[in-house]
Amino acid sequence: MSRSRFITGLDVGTTNIRIIVLELKKNSKPRVAAAASYPSFGLRRGVVINMTEARENISCCLKKAGEISQSSLKKVYVNIGGNHISIIGNKGGVAVSRANGEVSEGDIERVINEAKAISISPNKEPLHTIPQKYKLDDQEGIKDPLGMHGVKLEVDTLIICGGTPHIKNLTKTVFETGIEIQDLVFSPLAISSALLSCRQKELGTMILDLGGGTTSFAVWEEGDLIHAVVLPIGASHITNDIAIGLRISLDLAEQIKIKYGYCLPREMTRKEIIDLSEFGEEGKFLKREVSEIIEARWSEIFDLVNKELRKIGREKLLPAGVILAGGGAKSQGIVELAKRELKLPCFIGSFQLEGISSQLDNILFANALGLAFYGIREGIDGFGVSREQNLFSKVKRWFKTFLP
Ligand SMILES: Nc1ncnc2c1ncn2[C@@H]1O[C@H](COP(=O)(O)OP(=O)(O)OP(=O)(O)O)[C@@H](O)[C@H]1O
Ligand SMILES: [Mg+2]
Repeated sequence: MSRSRFITGLDVGTTNIRIIVLELKKNSKPRVAAAASYPSFGLRRGVVINMTEARENISCCLKKAGEISQSSLKKVYVNIGGNHISIIGNKGGVAVSRANGEVSEGDIERVINEAKAISISPNKEPLHTIPQKYKLDDQEGIKDPLGMHGVKLEVDTLIICGGTPHIKNLTKTVFETGIEIQDLVFSPLAISSALLSCRQKELGTMILDLGGGTTSFAVWEEGDLIHAVVLPIGASHITNDIAIGLRISLDLAEQIKIKYGYCLPREMTRKEIIDLSEFGEEGKFLKREVSEIIEARWSEIFDLVNKELRKIGREKLLPAGVILAGGGAKSQGIVELAKRELKLPCFIGSFQLEGISSQLDNILFANALGLAFYGIREGIDGFGVSREQNLFSKVKRWFKTFLP
């Protein structure tokens, strides 16, 4: 019987917990062995606010995923979001150590460590250090300096930092479910692994995750991450707006949003009515009224995204456009509205993988899938390679289009 290995991505979202278990088998493509979701109640705007509730919800989702995949899940890659995350750029520089001036793995490690050595505020800690471009003497823009010759090696890095209390709360919650965390991954990085190709990252693109409690995005150019932000506002704010605007319960507002929500009120007639009797309640509303509420909130969110793009000089300037994901990307008319507001080509993210049935599943499970992909990449790039070489060789070939 051929050996297989499971890699699990656990997306701890504000409104939903989602898990993808990928099965890696020798000589075959990764296969989705389980996709499970469970409502999430212990988080607000991407951070844990009730550890007991979050732990119970995660446990239920893990149990479901374990049953579907018929495997006992022991380790997971977990995402982290929330607007406590900040990104700092820093440089490092070292002298090349070999007498013949050839850059070694050791030099690259030392220069990255040098860039890591920055003082960050005491309640923050680094989650990722991402080398962007290297400089060797006067030659700039080097992607991989290994084996090149020079005297002084420098690097530009992006350091992604998270708030220590939020990191501790999340890791403790997950550990208490009895599962081990293999790595904590910044959400926009995870989702980029699932939905962006190397070509898109090279040309200039943005992944925009329209979540329930947060809107997060990552901007890529020339293969590098150049900016990423988590905004503490998301699709559940639209539900709140509808409840307040129409003076109805949150549950009813959510049902109306899902069933009749449309992002472009100007395309609707003034006659279309929502009759609440179909939800077992009394009253009637104009569909256009609901649509105006939805448009106003999304426009505000896209406006905040534009402001962030302006800060890095990329407003209306991403040739490969915007890839939409998350539950909000299922809103009807969102692509047209995003195009109008961001003035960029916009598409719904998708990914074809054995075991995933439709495009819609993709955008909801993209974070969990991205975490599992991140795990595969660590297996390829990291120290696991020699032990797992056989198993990973085929996967690597299939997977290489996603490697930066
Ligand atoms: N068909 C749909 N139409 C409109 N909105 C939808 C639809 N399906 C889901 N949503 C909305 O998407 C949101 C949930 O998205 P998602 O599951 O991506 O969030 P999350 O990952 O739990 O949250 P976050 O990423 O912010 O922590 C909810 O507000 C939900 O109402
Ligand atoms: Mg999410």
